[in-house]
Order: sequence, then structure tokens, then C-alpha cells
Amino acid sequence: MTASQHVPQTEDLSERVESLLTQMTLAEKAGQLTQLFYFDLPPQDDAEGGLPIDLAAQPAMVEATAAEGGVGSLLFLRDPAEINRLQRLVIDGNRLGIPALIGFDVIHGFRTILPVPIALAASWDPDVIEAGQAVAAREARAVGIHWAFAPMVDIARDPRWGRIIEGAGEDPYLGSAVAAAQVRGFQGSGIGAPDRIIAGPKHFAGYGAALGGRDYDEVNLSDYELWNVYLPPFHAAVKAGAGNLMTAYMDLNGIPATGNHWLLAEVLRDGWGFDGFLVSDAQAVHNLVTHGFAADLTDAAARAVSVGLDLEMAIHDPAYAHLPEAVEQGLVDEEALDTCVRRMLAVKLKLGLFDDPFVDEDQARTVLADPGHREVARTAAQRTAVLLRNEGDVLPLTGRGAIAVVGPLADSKRDTLGPWVFEHDVEETVTILRGIRDRAGGEVRVDYAPGIRPAYRVFPSMFDMFGGNTPVEPDAFDDKAELDRAVGLAAGAAVAVVVVGEWQNMIGEAASRSSLELPGDQLALLKAVVDTGTPVVLVVMNGRPLDLRWASENVPAILDVWYPGSQGGAAVADLIFGEVSPGGKLPFTWPRTVGQVPIYYNHTISHEPANQGRRYWDEESTPLYPFGYGLSYGRFQYDDLRVDQDRIQSGGEATVSVTVTNVGDRRGDEVVQLYIHQRHGASSRPVRELKGFERLSLDPGESRTVTFRLGPDELRYWNAGAHDWVVDATELDVYVGGDSTASLSTSVAVEGSTPAPGQSRGA
Ligand code: NOJ
Repeated sequence: MTASQHVPQTEDLSERVESLLTQMTLAEKAGQLTQLFYFDLPPQDDAEGGLPIDLAAQPAMVEATAAEGGVGSLLFLRDPAEINRLQRLVIDGNRLGIPALIGFDVIHGFRTILPVPIALAASWDPDVIEAGQAVAAREARAVGIHWAFAPMVDIARDPRWGRIIEGAGEDPYLGSAVAAAQVRGFQGSGIGAPDRIIAGPKHFAGYGAALGGRDYDEVNLSDYELWNVYLPPFHAAVKAGAGNLMTAYMDLNGIPATGNHWLLAEVLRDGWGFDGFLVSDAQAVHNLVTHGFAADLTDAAARAVSVGLDLEMAIHDPAYAHLPEAVEQGLVDEEALDTCVRRMLAVKLKLGLFDDPFVDEDQARTVLADPGHREVARTAAQRTAVLLRNEGDVLPLTGRGAIAVVGPLADSKRDTLGPWVFEHDVEETVTILRGIRDRAGGEVRVDYAPGIRPAYRVFPSMFDMFGGNTPVEPDAFDDKAELDRAVGLAAGAAVAVVVVGEWQNMIGEAASRSSLELPGDQLALLKAVVDTGTPVVLVVMNGRPLDLRWASENVPAILDVWYPGSQGGAAVADLIFGEVSPGGKLPFTWPRTVGQVPIYYNHTISHEPANQGRRYWDEESTPLYPFGYGLSYGRFQYDDLRVDQDRIQSGGEATVSVTVTNVGDRRGDEVVQLYIHQRHGASSRPVRELKGFERLSLDPGESRTVTFRLGPDELRYWNAGAHDWVVDATELDVYVGGDSTASLSTSVAVEGSTPAPGQSRGA
């Protein structure tokens, strides 16, 4: 019997919800609010796989719980046949035949892997981001996944934090635009749209500010930083209609985010009117006890439900199993529980799961094989690369001389994909070496040598249980001979393409780092290749800024390709041979050294700004590359910057326009960026704040006039004295250009009232 036979389809959604709810026991309600991992992994060398559970016994435990009606949602299933099987178990396991919601970490693709999220942000191209996540949604939905634990919209200003790779970088304006584009990509016209899945922005909120960049550690953020920097991308995602939000692991100002009444009830529900469902991060409800916040699991469950946390994501021992006793003991009202259950039932109804809970496995295979998806991934990879240096126009490569490709990452399929990839076809991944060879064809000789062995983490990653960095047997790799071979190839070539970076398990969750240096012997390899005198193109695979001080002075061309995904190598070849121009821009400030972090462009002017670049005695305090920076094969000139009026009345708006011309001799891409600076007011405001951007492709000699709107949303800020949003009467400097150091400027006055009209506190 299918679920649709249990529930009449003619009733409207809330009636159907109520009719189910009234039939449910407390235990059944608790089951609806429980989401369990289903790990189906090969046996692990490390018996626990880094997790405090018996992994081999885990599937049986989940199946037994599901068969007793204890599961409302599952995660980590990826195979359509398995999803159908488990779905059947869940439906048959509860009296009312309520289907399971299936969630997964669809972070940057499902089977077709897109560039990593920080790379997507570097495209500064919301359309490409939306198109990419729409492909990810289509593939995931085809196998029976209903919901992505993405996008991660945490602002990250400390690259020691490995999860910087999962977000959009340091800036709230760019972060908001990227968040909204991803939500549109995942969800399409809304929850239940065909071929789409629910978006689950995470981790609410402040996770990116983990102390010292140490993943999971506490976060202390002023309300000034929260409102002006860390919350805006979440608000943008909510406004874009995100159906779900995930709470964060850590303590926020001393109160765990997952039990934080102010954050979840006051800001999110009351302030922003979020009516989707909230899920905890994995074990985060359980860990309210670990944090020293809840007394025990019953208390943890009661407190989480009281703040409106609908679904507990659990690896083991769900706290929500204790909800019946929490209600019986009077720790939480049943009404609060019912509110959560209503939200979970409503989302399943909206998705149509009661009517159609299973997927067609043949259809899934067809969707996953769609070649159109690979094209979307290739375009995305082309658009995400950032050209950091190109002295003497080394790029694009136009000659026919031999190419030496050097570095272990150049031919590593798994590393080309980056972290947070599980259901991929590694075999089809195009490495950088493969991409260059394919494009060079038979006419240009392409030789390859890794030169050095891969580098390894000092402490292994829990993600290695899904396949990590293949160990090289010490005896199987003759370090001297390999280095000599690489150097010899480079010496005999017309150009050397050296690929460096971090291995994919060195970045992402639980991949914080105390240094930004190139791991292993990569810098030595690079130096040895540069010493040959052969021109070098350095290709960097990374999700965080790395220490490129030496390269930035000694290597003529540097192309940051991030982890470019399934079609990464093909896209890199398109870029270096000039089929397309790089045009991505940095979504974060690139420090010179780890000692500078956190470093971000939108700091306040401070005392003694003239010496801002000399705050340290041993190293400049300026970045190696500024936020918004990136070169192109075109060259761009900016003219005629205007604001269409002298003064903006508070609540009103003005239009900023500028003409951009490609004065170079190749077609190229530019991201035109608008920044403002408020000269005076009720607060010291940042030296620059991004308030608009648009990516253009222009032929040589071609011009385009770009316009931006400056209105209340761009002018308001959270004032820590007023504890509210304000617009100050002031004079604004307006800068437009190709990065955050843009020099072309004008100004406009702002007149009028404060706080900003129409903006209630926290809204
Ligand atoms: C923990 C991570 O913090 C979160 O981002 C992820 O979605 C869940 N695990 C599920 O894998």
C-alpha cells in the first residue's frame, strides 16, 4: 500500500496535516522529527572510521528504527534502489504511512561535479551558479533526494578554517547574491518544482568565525558583526524562499546555536518570518549536553523543540527519542512539538511525497548520464578561474613548443573534484593533464612528471573513509630521480605548467590549518622548475588562499582554478589556450601570510590610516591580492562615472552609471564592482563596501554602460549604539572598478532620517 492511499488528496494541505497530526502518538511525533544517517560504507581500516559508532552495525540499527516508525528523514543515501528500499521500510514502518524526507550534502554537484562553492562565488556570476545548482538538483532528485544541505552561506574571514571552501568568502553583499542564486538553482520556482530539491542554507549562524579558524570552536561575534556581516546571506537565502535552514554546531556568544532562542526564535522566525523547517547539524541536539548547556538528552530535546528546531539530524542516540518523556515531564509543551511536526508533514506534502514517494531507477540513470550536465560544469569551471598574474602575457599559450606538466595534483582525478564529493564518476573526471593533452592534440608534445610525492595530513580526516589521498609506498617513489625527471622535462619544454595546491582532504570540514604554506615539497618543486629558465604557468588548486609570496614575484603567470570539478581539466585547457578568457575575481582578501588573518577589505578606516599597510614590523599588512581582484585577457578602462542625482533622500534611491571599454586586444571578461564609503555618520563605516557588481564579456574596442542602484538596502547598516538599522545623513564616496582598490570615484549626499523608514528592528 502506498502512502497516497492513507491520505485523501482532495483536502488542502493544512487539513491533511491536521488530520495526520491528530492521529499521532507522542512517539510517532518524535519519530517524524528524527533524521538518521544511513552509512553504507566498505569496511574501514580504522574500525570506527573516525566516528564514535560501529559503522558496520549502523545500517541495521537505522532499519530497525525505521521499521518501528522512529524515522522521519534519512541522509547519506545516494543509490536510487537503496532509497526506494529504505523509503518502503519507512512508509511501512509507521501506522500512517508517512514517507521519509531524504536529504544529502549536494554541495557542488551530485554526480556531475561543479567547481567548489568558493569557486562558484569567484565567478561573480549568479546565472552560472544558479544553472550549476539546477543541474545538481536534477541529478539528486532523479535518485530520490529531496533536499540539499546547501548552500553554505557562512561568511569566512579566516582561511585557517577549512570550510571557507564551502562558502562565498568574506563579503556580505557578494555572499547574499551567491546565496540567493543557489537557492534559486536548487529550488526553481519553489518547493515541489519538478527536478528541483529543497535548499538548506547553513550553518545558522556565525560558524565561519570559529576562534582561531579551528573548526567547531566557539564563536564570539558582536551584534554589529552579526547583523552587518554574518546574517545578511542567511536573510537573503530566506528571502529567496529557502525551505530549510540548518543550525550551526558551535556556541554563539556563549549559547549553542542549536539551542539559541534569540537566534532561532527571535531573529529567524519572528524577525524574518521564516516558515520553513529547521534541522540541526549532525548530533548538534545531542551535543547540547556535550557543550555543557543541556542537563541530559531529555533536556536537550525539550530545549531544541522549544526554540523551534524541527528536525534532529543524528548519527546515533537521537535526543528527540526522549521527546515523549520531555512532554510527560512538562519540560516542553506538546503544542511546541506539534508545531515542528506540522512543518515536517507540510514539507512532505508540498513535495508530493505522499502521492509519489518512489523514484524510477532507469530514469535516474538517464538523468545522471545527461551530457548537457557536463557542459554546465565545464562552463562553470571556465568562469570560476581567477588569473592572478600574467606578466608579459605568458597566457594564453599560443606557440607550438612542447609543454611540460608538473606536479602530483595535475593528474589526480579525485583532487580535481575537491571535497564534499561522494557520488561521482571518478573515471570520467578530466584532470588538468588530460585537459591539456586533449586540447593540444597531436601537434604539441605534452610530457608529465609529478616531480614529488603527494603531501599528507598530520592528523587524518574523517572524510578519508569515503576515499582519501592514496598513499605512495616509500620505496616506490625515488624522490631524487622524480624531481630530476620533472626538472629535465621542464628544461626541455617551451613552457612548464606547474600545478600546486592542497590535496582535497586538506580543506573542507575538519580541515583547519595553522599555516597557509604549500603542503609538502611543492614550493621546492616550483623553484626548481622556475630555475630552468623555462617560462612557467602556475596553476593553483585550492579552496583557501595559500602563501604565494614567492610565486607572486617569480612566476610570470598564476591561474587559480580552485577544485574545478568533473570537467575541470577541460576548462583549464580552454583557459590557458585562450579559447575563453579568465574573468573570475577573488571572493576573499588574499593574505601574504597566515599571521595577517583575519584580513578583509571592508575594515574601518582606523586611527592612522596612512600606516595601514605597516602595522607589522616584519611584513606588510596589505594583502597579496585584494578582494575582488582578478585579471583577464582583455584590459578594461572605466569612464564617465556618474550618479544621476546630487543627493539621495533617505528611503529614496539613485542610479550609478559607468562606461567600461575593453582597450586590450583580446576578448575578455570583467566584473564591474561598485563600492561605497560613508564619510561620517552615527558610526565609523568601512573604507569600502561592495554594493553592486556585474560581469561582462567584451570584445576588443567594445564598450558597455553599466548601471547600479543605490537605495535603502544598500545604504542602511546596523548601528551598534541604536541596536537597529539606520541610514545616516552623510556624504558617500562611490567607487567603481575591477577590484576593491578601484580608484575611479565620485560622491553623493544622503539626506534624511534615521532609523531607516520601513525597517523595523532586526527585519
Ligand atoms: C556536518 C556538517 O557540518 C554539515 O555541513 C553537513 O551537512 C552534515 N554534517 C551532514 O553531512
